[in-house]
Amino acid sequence: MNQPPIDRISLVGRGRLGSALAQAFESAGIALDTDAPVVLLAVPDAAIAEAAAPYAEAAAPYADRTVGHTSGATPISVLPEGSFGLHPLQTFAGGEGPEAFRGIGAAIGGDTGVARELALALGMVPFEIADRDRPAYHAAASIASNFLVTLQAAAEQAGAGVVAREHLLPLVRTTVENWGHRGPDALTGPVARGDEDTVAAQRAALPSELTDLFDAMVERTKALA
Ligand SMILES: NC(=O)c1ccc[n+]([C@@H]2O[C@H](COP(=O)([O-])OP(=O)(O)OC[C@H]3O[C@@H](n4cnc5c(N)ncnc54)[C@H](OP(=O)(O)O)[C@@H]3O)[C@@H](O)[C@H]2O)c1
Repeated sequence: MNQPPIDRISLVGRGRLGSALAQAFESAGIALDTDAPVVLLAVPDAAIAEAAAPYAEAAAPYADRTVGHTSGATPISVLPEGSFGLHPLQTFAGGEGPEAFRGIGAAIGGDTGVARELALALGMVPFEIADRDRPAYHAAASIASNFLVTLQAAAEQAGAGVVAREHLLPLVRTTVENWGHRGPDALTGPVARGDEDTVAAQRAALPSELTDLFDAMVERTKALA
């Protein structure tokens, strides 16, 4: 028997992700309602188990609710039986609107029926992730997003007083787009060309706290080239 479409959701947490989700659900015609049968926890990872605990109770008002969380790292198994995971594969720094979900991937797990329906309602492209694969999945996401910021902050520090962030930005954007289309073939520059004198000159110009990072990146870049 087909389930009726989800038209109400109880969204817990109005932080960086929760605020954007609240707008996106409303824009998709899914009303925010604390009594709704589907509950989505957009709370910090460390708070998920505690926030979910009441929904394992058999008594009203917690009984017969389907619970999900939005964490990429946390297994679905911390939630009651029949729960789901819905992790938008995007970074939300605050202030995003409903359009932020359109076209992005969404890792779903557990009761994937509910998760898939919610993902599609917001314009996301759902793909399944098993609990055992979550650490690798989340490592990939952290390297792609968080470490990219760390790397660009290092670039800014290396070029302090010489080149501004606004001039590095087109380089970063084009590099990311090239990598998206070509993978490792996007690699250019002195390491890929085997120009060791230029690499040594770059290294000598760096503040000392960046040399370990530089050396590690040169090693990985040589392996990629
Ligand atoms: N931000 C992202 O880029 C992103 C992307 C994908 C997935 N996620 C996932 O989304 C979840 C939330 O992340 P976030 O970045 O939005 O965090 P956040 O900005 O720190 O917001 C967390 C929200 O949860 C509330 N909260 C904390 N403990 C709670 C509890 N025990 N019960 C009810 N509400 C509670 C907080 O309220 P107070 O401020 O009042 O404490 C806050 O509104 C995490 O699982 C994260 O992994 C985040």
